[in-house]
Amino acid sequence: MYAVRNLKDDITYLGVEDRRLHLFENIFPLDRGVTYNSYLIQDEKTALLDTVDHTAGKQFLENLEHVLCGRKLDYLIVNHMEPDHCALIDEIVLRYPEIQVVSTAKTFQMISQFFTLALTEEQKLVVKEGDELSLGKHVLSFVMAPMVHWPEVMFTYDKTDGILFSADAFGVFGTNNGNLFADEMNYKAKDFTDDARRYYSNIVGKYGMQVQNVLKKACKLEIRMICPLHGPVWREDLDFIVGLYDKWSKYEAEDKAVAVFYNSVYGNTESVINALTLRLAEKGVKNIAVYDVSKTDVSVLISESFRVSHIVFGATTYNNGLFPKMENLIQDMKALTVQNKKYAIIENGTWAPAAGKLLKAELDSMKNMEQVGETLTVKSATFNLEALDALACAIAESLK
Ligand code: FEO
Repeated sequence: MYAVRNLKDDITYLGVEDRRLHLFENIFPLDRGVTYNSYLIQDEKTALLDTVDHTAGKQFLENLEHVLCGRKLDYLIVNHMEPDHCALIDEIVLRYPEIQVVSTAKTFQMISQFFTLALTEEQKLVVKEGDELSLGKHVLSFVMAPMVHWPEVMFTYDKTDGILFSADAFGVFGTNNGNLFADEMNYKAKDFTDDARRYYSNIVGKYGMQVQNVLKKACKLEIRMICPLHGPVWREDLDFIVGLYDKWSKYEAEDKAVAVFYNSVYGNTESVINALTLRLAEKGVKNIAVYDVSKTDVSVLISESFRVSHIVFGATTYNNGLFPKMENLIQDMKALTVQNKKYAIIENGTWAPAAGKLLKAELDSMKNMEQVGETLTVKSATFNLEALDALACAIAESLK
């Protein structure tokens, strides 16, 4: 059964909701699923904007066939060549051989890498920044968005209706459940923002500067609707999602707040973390978030590291190094260029504590990271209570 919805009389959403996939990119858990968005403009010419993941192919092709209703497909515009969006390119070209594929030169290079499909010169239309394509009433212009989040990425701007087809930008984890537009769901709810941030920080987080560059270009366009490749379409309160992307891409904390990331082998480090958080609360620190890194997916920790201003690490020494889950978190933070944080360290080691020194070296190698208080050393279950009080005071003071 086809499942489509009109954005406008002549623009249709053909995307597919995926509640089956457990791991996006075979790494990120999907508690609320994900959508693969695709759009069709039907004017004097018809233009399909991106396809979907191959797992959603049957539904997508049924949607396309239904909406075209026998019309010819003139253009396939490829904004992003990652396989969760481009997997059906060869199938589309086989079904509609008169089509022209419209994209950047880099995209065509990637098409030849991903597919055995050999496009003829007539089937290719290479575009660059500012080029325009008229479909009749709709005039499309192309905005290059390299590294948001692959190098070939472009946005397509429909000048006629003020619609920005924004590739991965402004995407969100989670299905829409029929409520295609963000204003039809509680987009200000915590779970939505958490999924939006988890998507941004883990997928695009490394490329803040490139996101800033494209936001500056987008500011010059009159945008009335944003159509990303994942999650809902934005037709109201665009400043909400644009504002979040602006903040995240500047690596500014959303909340002046503290998150605690700890690992604990036998519960002693956890016990000290509990003593610290109680002291912080007594000093007026609210909404403390505490995560056992052994039990929490690292994508959630990354998202939280983008959200908060302060991070407390509780780390045991393991094989004379960091506990593997903590090491993995730190390396992921570095890869995604987490920066501008205040941090505190509690280390544990029974005979040769080393975690604190190792953590500090890693954190100080990241941009604009500042330690609050002194590293508190726990030996097994023993530590200096006055030093814990002093650390709690320093963190609470720093949050004021
Ligand atoms: Fe949703 Fe970068 O692909």
